[in-house]
Amino acid sequence: MSKKILILSGSPRKDGNSERLCKQFMAGAESAGHTVEMVSLREKKVAYCVACYACRKLKKCVQKDDANEIIQKMIDADVLVLSSPVYFYSIAAQLKALIDRCVSRYTEIRNKEFYYIVTAAENSITAAERTIEDMRGFVDCIDGAQEKGIVYGVGAWDKGDIEGMPAMETAYEMGKNC
Ligand SMILES: Cc1cc2nc3c(=O)[nH]c(=O)nc-3n(C[C@H](O)[C@H](O)[C@H](O)COP(=O)(O)O)c2cc1C
Repeated sequence: MSKKILILSGSPRKDGNSERLCKQFMAGAESAGHTVEMVSLREKKVAYCVACYACRKLKKCVQKDDANEIIQKMIDADVLVLSSPVYFYSIAAQLKALIDRCVSRYTEIRNKEFYYIVTAAENSITAAERTIEDMRGFVDCIDGAQEKGIVYGVGAWDKGDIEGMPAMETAYEMGKNC
């Protein structure tokens, strides 16, 4: 069955390691006939949640930027891929800002399959675990969410270090088999 896949790339670095893994995932998924869109958050304007709670009444966020459109895409997708570099053992601010803005409609983001793509300079899966836990904090709030897979792009510091590493193949295969 063809699925609608939305990849949320949280790195501020163009052509960085996580973006390359996202593109691999995308290529794999497209080869299997899925419909894939990748949103690079570095190209979008997503302000912080200001906790005004206007969304409680309005059921959407009152801030006028790109978040509402991205959140609608999240609601419409079957599969969500969350991608971030490890930044001080946490997720990048770009992805966190979007996650917080989801407070306006997160109850509508239901029954999704989730994949995580994480990159880190340190060459150990432990380096990525806390960042993945941050992603899980969000996913735990989504009704009917299923965690399906993780790509660990560890041991990659400079742009392009990920090329030739097994994570590239893992990302392609995960996309193909999702
Ligand atoms: C602000 C900042 C904080 C970082 N913190 C960590 C860290 O805590 N652990 C780590 O292993 N790498 C850390 N890194 C390295 C990045 O995770 C690594 O370069 C990664 O490949 C970047 O992915 P990208 O190319 O997709 O942006 C940090 C990099 C930056 C810019």
